[in-house]
Amino acid sequence: MSKNKNAYDDPHIAEIYDKTEAYVDDIELIRSRINNLGAMHILEPFCGTGRVIIPLACDERRLVGIDESSAMLNRAQSKLNKLSDDIKTRVKLIQADATAYSWPEGFDLVILGANCLYELATPEEQETCIAKAAASLKPGGYLFLDNNHMEGELDESWRQTGPRKSIFPVGTCDDGTCLDATTETIWFDGPKRLWQARRLITIKYPDGTNSTIEQVVQKHPVSVVEQQQWLRAYGFIIENLYGDRKGSPYTDKSDRAIFWAKKA
Ligand SMILES: C[S@@+](CC[C@H](N)C(=O)[O-])C[C@H]1O[C@@H](n2cnc3c(N)ncnc32)[C@H](O)[C@@H]1O
Repeated sequence: MSKNKNAYDDPHIAEIYDKTEAYVDDIELIRSRINNLGAMHILEPFCGTGRVIIPLACDERRLVGIDESSAMLNRAQSKLNKLSDDIKTRVKLIQADATAYSWPEGFDLVILGANCLYELATPEEQETCIAKAAASLKPGGYLFLDNNHMEGELDESWRQTGPRKSIFPVGTCDDGTCLDATTETIWFDGPKRLWQARRLITIKYPDGTNSTIEQVVQKHPVSVVEQQQWLRAYGFIIENLYGDRKGSPYTDKSDRAIFWAKKA
């Protein structure tokens, strides 16, 4: 398997994403880094519903977002449509598979936030994203790269058998549609840090009918060491490594590994 079926390509799943993922601390961390850097042209692959790009567009930044899910992009566009023409014209949304598409070039900042490397099935695809980020940036441009922190072999919880209740996508949409989900490990390769699982999403509609979406997802929880190697290989200088979205320094106990890296 080299590519996950997009887990977000359903309007109800996109709505649950918007309802549950409303945090802003990563946006504040980005703002703290770019406040004094003047006008910036920013690229966010895996932009989803615009959680990050819309507030930055309101700060007068120009942005391009790439996402392969029309459901997620439709939500981003609906939010933009409620804003001024000035803000709307500062944002361009592109529907594409970020692993296959040639990312546009000439940017001052590329954002790979919110665990987006976890959307990809293999370390090769993750490395490709770092290479594409480097190619998209002007010399001296920056990369913001934010993932969960997991080093070494993955712990036992990854090899647990039997269906487990998922935390996403679970909830109730405005029209009364209810989503519930379970995840079940299919196989686990500890040394390669690869995990494949079956996710079953049950959708109960207000008229009493149900449907089920079955997804096979594969994940490679990326390590700090891998990210450091890729960043150096593609010409980045790592200026900061944070351990959380408040900007605390990274330690081996940190929950997150957040790189702020400059293209040499
Ligand atoms: C966790 S969401 C993050 C959304 C947004 N970056 C945020 O911070 O709220 C991941 C997004 O990646 C998108 N995605 C997953 N695989 C993709 C791919 N190969 N190409 C483009 N987008 C992808 C999904 O559609 C989803 O919108």
